[in-house]
This record gives sequence, C-alpha cells and structure tokens, in this order.
Amino acid sequence: MTWLVTGGAGYIGAHVVWALTGAGERVVVLDDLSGGVPERLPSDVPLVRGTVRDRAVLDRVIVDHGVAGVVHLAAKKQVGESMERPLEYYRENVHGLTVLLEAVVAAGVRRFLFSSSAAVYGVPEEDPVTEDTPCRPINPYGETKLAGEWLVRSAGRAHGLSTACLRYFNVAGAARPELADTGVSNVIPMFFDALTRGEPPRIFGDDYPTPDGTCVRDYIHVADLADAHLAVARRLTELPAGEDLTVNVGTGRGVSVRELADLVAEVTGIHEPAPLVVARRPGDPAGVVASAERIGAELGWSPRHGVRRMVASAWEGWRLRRPEAR
Ligand SMILES: NC(=O)c1ccc[n+]([C@@H]2O[C@H](COP(=O)([O-])OP(=O)(O)OC[C@H]3O[C@@H](n4cnc5c(N)ncnc54)[C@H](O)[C@@H]3O)[C@@H](O)[C@H]2O)c1
Repeated sequence: MTWLVTGGAGYIGAHVVWALTGAGERVVVLDDLSGGVPERLPSDVPLVRGTVRDRAVLDRVIVDHGVAGVVHLAAKKQVGESMERPLEYYRENVHGLTVLLEAVVAAGVRRFLFSSSAAVYGVPEEDPVTEDTPCRPINPYGETKLAGEWLVRSAGRAHGLSTACLRYFNVAGAARPELADTGVSNVIPMFFDALTRGEPPRIFGDDYPTPDGTCVRDYIHVADLADAHLAVARRLTELPAGEDLTVNVGTGRGVSVRELADLVAEVTGIHEPAPLVVARRPGDPAGVVASAERIGAELGWSPRHGVRRMVASAWEGWRLRRPEAR
C-alpha cells in the first residue's frame, strides 16, 4: 500500500517520510511548497506540488499512486500569525482538511492520521496533561486543530475510516542536519538566532509557579515523533473501521526555559550575552507537560532522545544553513 503524506516536504513531514520509507512503506508526498523544501525528501519518493484544497489534484494522486492511507501534516502552524490572519488558518487547516477528507471518502481510502497539537488544550489546568484534559484552545491555530480532530473523528465514524489524531507537544531537533526546522518561531532556534547575532536570548517571565520561575514545556525529538507516526500508521491497518486513536506525543518530562537556555549555551559554546528576562507573554501557561501513558500503553512507543540531543542536532542544522554561525 502507499501512504499519501501531505506536507511531506516540511520539517516534521520529511522526518515522517524517511521513517515510513526506511521501514519499507511506499510513500507519495503532496506539498504546495509554501514552507516545504523538496531536497529534504528521499530521491525515490514522488513529490506532487499542489494544495490539499485542490480536489482534482487529490483525486489524481490517490488513483495514480494507489493510495490506501493518508498522513496529513500540511497546515499553517504559527500561533501569532493565526491571531492576525484567522481566516487564512481556517481556510488552510479546516477547509483544506474537509476537501482532503471528501477525496479520501470518495476514493474508499480507509486510514487517516491527523497532525494535531498540544495547542488544543489551551492553558491546561492539569499536570500532566492527559488526553481527557478539557480542550480549550486560546488561539485560532489551536481552534483549527481541535476542529480538525472533530472533522476527522466524525468522518471516520460516518464513513468507516480508522483514524488517529496525534497531539504533538514541543517538537525539536533533527534526525540529520539537512532535515532541521528552517523557521525561528520555536524557542531553540530563537535562542540560536539571538546568540549568533550577539544578542541576549529572551526569557519571557521568571515569576511563574515553577521550580526556577520560568515556563516548563515538554520537548519531543522529531525523530521520536516520526517513529510514533510509523507505529500509528501500522496500528491503523489493524484498527476496526470507524475507530479512532487520539494520543499525546510527548515525553512526560518537563524542561524549563532557563534549563534550555543553559543547555543552548553549553552546546553552542556561546555563553555571552546571558539570557535577559523580559515580561511574560500573554497566554503563556506556566507548565505544559504531556502524560505519555496512553501512547506507551497502546503502541509500546517511548521516546529515545533527550533534550540535549535535540539541542545539539538542531544546532548542527542551524550551522549547516548558516555557515557563518560560530
Ligand atoms: N512544529 C511543531 O512544533 C508542531 C507542533 C504541533 C503540531 N504541529 C503540526 O505538524 C504539522 C507539520 O508541522 P511542521 O513543523 O513540519 O511545519 P512545516 O511548515 O515545516 O510543514 C508544513 C508543510 O505543509 C506544506 N503545506 C502548507 N499548506 C499546505 C497546503 N494547503 N497544501 C499542501 N501543502 C501545504 C508546507 O509547504 C510545508 O511543507 C502541522 O500540521 C503543524 O500544525 C507542529
């Protein structure tokens, strides 16, 4: 069978493609290249340039490649941008998903894996965050991911698909430098960016009720996340029609921003300027750490890489693209 990986030329998507093909699965990628990099893909994986909002392209790809399952990663993903441009986020992330599901249902494809996010929880009141923690997203990005889960599960129940929604926590690192995240919207690349420009990395608030006062998050290595996709993709072939598996993908371990800043200084060897504590950002929860029990129990999956490996591999990727970096 062939898996259609939407957004497969993206940061996480390319890792998923390598994990699937490395395990002998056949893959075709659909990506509009709005953020994707074709060179990330294995040379023998076909890449179709197009949007998931284009039903004709979807119908053609599914038939031409004998697609029997979909891993849907294509989306817009920046929280701040989603607050400025909510309509674009709903168009890409919700309307795009609707068109894709229509094509999937019409073609009789039976397996569907959806990239969700810890953003569906908003500011969770529970620690650790389980899959039963109430979902109350606080920005349009998180709303589109929650609406996406509803769409996927409803379509699955009504049309007999086996579905999975993976709620990723903070994704970091790279399996190889050339697969690294190219953006600077996450904290680790933001720290690299500041330090390599000779500026202090900024810590937003150190008066939270956490051990060192800075926010605590759950960082998951992208290679571990990709392995989780492979395990879930295989489980989908056994899951009864209409059933859904919704799981957190995190490590269950919290790391504070201060700890991360120390690790970044150690890995990069850039200790000056020291981090600068600035005002809290509105809407930043003190701590968001996954309970990773369900995914462990359901799939026997557990993360293999720690946060040091994430920082070190992200730094290798950063230096590959910016040779001027020390
Ligand atoms: N990076 C994270 O920390 C994180 C956390 C939680 C969830 N996610 C989710 O994981 C998925 C992948 O994220 P990423 O970090 O790899 O982002 P990315 O921007 O690197 O990858 C997204 C890919 O989708 C493509 N794309 C966007 N809109 C498209 C469309 N309409 N049709 C076809 N292709 C389209 C882009 O070109 C890009 O290659 C997204 O759904 C994102 O919401 C990411």
